[in-house]
Amino acid sequence: MEGKTVYSAIQPSGNLTIGNYVGSIRNWLNMQSEYDCYFAMANMHAITVRQEPSELRRRTLELAALYIACGVDPEKCTLYVQSQVPQHAELAWVLNTLTYVGEMERMTQFKDKSRKHADNINMGLMDYPVLMAADILLYQADLVPVGQDQTQHVEITRDIAVRFNNRFGDTFTVPQALILKQGAKICSLQEPEKKMSKSDENPNASVYLTDDRDAILRKFKRAVTDSDSEIRLAPEKPGISNLLTIYASFTGKTAGEAEKDFAGKGYGEFKLAVGEAVADKLAPVQQEQARLLKDKAYLGGVLAAGAERAYKTARKTLSKVYRKIGFYQGE
Ligand code: TRP
Repeated sequence: MEGKTVYSAIQPSGNLTIGNYVGSIRNWLNMQSEYDCYFAMANMHAITVRQEPSELRRRTLELAALYIACGVDPEKCTLYVQSQVPQHAELAWVLNTLTYVGEMERMTQFKDKSRKHADNINMGLMDYPVLMAADILLYQADLVPVGQDQTQHVEITRDIAVRFNNRFGDTFTVPQALILKQGAKICSLQEPEKKMSKSDENPNASVYLTDDRDAILRKFKRAVTDSDSEIRLAPEKPGISNLLTIYASFTGKTAGEAEKDFAGKGYGEFKLAVGEAVADKLAPVQQEQARLLKDKAYLGGVLAAGAERAYKTARKTLSKVYRKIGFYQGE
């Protein structure tokens, strides 16, 4: 796998949850020493739903600080803000002409978000997967680590890449999704059949990476359990299974070991232990993030260097694309 390129991004909208932490950020750490990694703050995707400008700017920096606090090393990988690299929008425009309206209308996330934001079904919302394809293809990524909900977007990226290559000659690496199973499995504390979401309306459903210890313990205390009192993994016990999965993820134990830890114990004691495991793990990350956010010069420097590196790769790909499609680029 030497020499492979990895691309992923997170939107700086909403608060990240422990699902994002386990599912995305933590998995990226394992990849950064092995692969050529690009990790972006997808602020251009974020504005497909309404954002408060000052909040979007603040969250973008918070997200960058969080990545670094979690262990993403800006020396080893390219960490940057999507809008600082203009080629994303430029390539998306070209790819738009190879994408059909019908395909975009059929996208599951577009349909979901259209329902949720019925008063703002804008062109960007529909075009979201094409921008994502541009993100990935600009860097000739081989692997795209994403949660289950984004696999359809990687699928369409592959289709668009193949379509372009067939029509204009070999240009893009056709990427592969790397499905992050573990994070996809962390569910809402209130409706454990549903994935934990950063945009859940019920504040007790999701544990945010910014939650303090009291909030974390309180949310786990209120977590929905099941009717009997056994602490074991079972499909008919989604609440308890979810808590066991979270406990295992935050302690490095297997779910089986977690089951053993709590054999014969009550739900109260169990929920407290899960909350404590999560709070203990997040405390040092939160401290480091706060420290980084105070050091604006350092953060700004990291992001400028990241954008510069990303720009160099992106410019090369875009120039190749423009040549293939017949865009005049000067003499
Ligand atoms: N759409 C992704 C999400 O919401 C974020 C994203 C934007 C992304 N561009 C990407 C993920 C490129 C992987 C690759 O989770």
